[in-house]
Amino acid sequence: TRLERANNVADLRLMARRRLPRPIFDYIDGGADDEVSLRRNATAFAQYELVPDVLNDVSNIRTETRIFGQSSRWPLMLSPTGLTRMFHDRAELAVAGAAARHGLLYSLSTMGTTRLEDLAQAFAGPKVFQIYIFKDRGLTAEFVARCRDAGFHGLALTVDTPVAGNRERDRVSGLSLPPKLTLRSLLSFALHPSWSLPALTGSKFDLANVSHKIDALASGPMSLFNYVGSQFDPSIGWRDVEWLAREWNGPLAIKGVMTPDDARRSIASGATGVMISNHGGRQLDGAPAPVDQIEAVRNAVGDEPDVICDGGIRRGSDIVKALALGATACSIGRPYLYALAAGGQPGVDHLLTLLREEFVRTMMLAGISDIASVSRRHVRNRARGAV
Ligand code: FNR
Repeated sequence: TRLERANNVADLRLMARRRLPRPIFDYIDGGADDEVSLRRNATAFAQYELVPDVLNDVSNIRTETRIFGQSSRWPLMLSPTGLTRMFHDRAELAVAGAAARHGLLYSLSTMGTTRLEDLAQAFAGPKVFQIYIFKDRGLTAEFVARCRDAGFHGLALTVDTPVAGNRERDRVSGLSLPPKLTLRSLLSFALHPSWSLPALTGSKFDLANVSHKIDALASGPMSLFNYVGSQFDPSIGWRDVEWLAREWNGPLAIKGVMTPDDARRSIASGATGVMISNHGGRQLDGAPAPVDQIEAVRNAVGDEPDVICDGGIRRGSDIVKALALGATACSIGRPYLYALAAGGQPGVDHLLTLLREEFVRTMMLAGISDIASVSRRHVRNRARGAV
């Protein structure tokens, strides 16, 4: 099939670029300001060498682990992304369906386009809800209750968005929801008919989890999106994390933590883990690459908490490197969105198969038969020279 011609994440990205109108592709692909962090998130992995053992029996590779207290077939999970229906009609259900087939955790965004209750009903696998602390704490508390009722297993509190990042590609392309019918956007839609026809019905743009709350306040979907963004509370602090941890009383990761001190503080405030993340380079440009922070963060929090490396993972070998530096698992955003746009649920399924094959092959070539035995000596930072 067409999808089988995609050998890696880069191929799926090119397929997505052909398939989507440019403003939509740029919304996925772009980052903040000069996109320095976006690029470095991925290239930083190349700085690490994998130092193999030989003549270990690698006929059987053990990959099973636990993330957010749930069993995961191998150490990868799917990050929350907003507006997913813009990229494919089946949206979150397609992505979660593929994750379930592969035994991986899926996270649903507050800004998602599927109601959390509908996702939970369609999808029996382990699931995390990505939450924000809104100016209206009642709205956050309502999400906590809905997640508990629907059977979500964990929460990820995103803390790197006190204000929206400066995504200049979106400004240049004039991204708006629903799309503005300028001459340029009409041309782009005419060139991508398979995407455009269902899109123009408008159903792609419903922020399903929040619209019931604020429909009356917003005149159109884009203003709804802006309205929700303006309801994130930039004054939040550690007390709010303590409040949320008490309110939820279950697995909770703080998403967007970068430093050992903040990681320690997250755990002290009641979180069970951290997602080291710069929001895929979409918020603070110049923030460090997550992979470069793993070792220090792990040293700060000790063995127990989940430490998830989120951002820049483009190969299965990246995941082995992250584990060697101390991560529990890695998390991906863009790779599955490219795959979704390229081929719906079969596209995401294909991506997860490719990454899993790369991961297992890397483990075998590195001479490591069990993820529990991946250790610091399997990785070396070239910038610091040979040991
Ligand atoms: C995101 N991300 C994100 N994060 C979050 O906490 N809430 C959200 O609604 C979104 N929305 C979103 C949309 C799109 C299109 C992208 C690409 C990303 C960030 C996401 O969860 C994750 O941190 C990054 O995508 C990880 O980097 P990579 O894997 O894309 O390199």
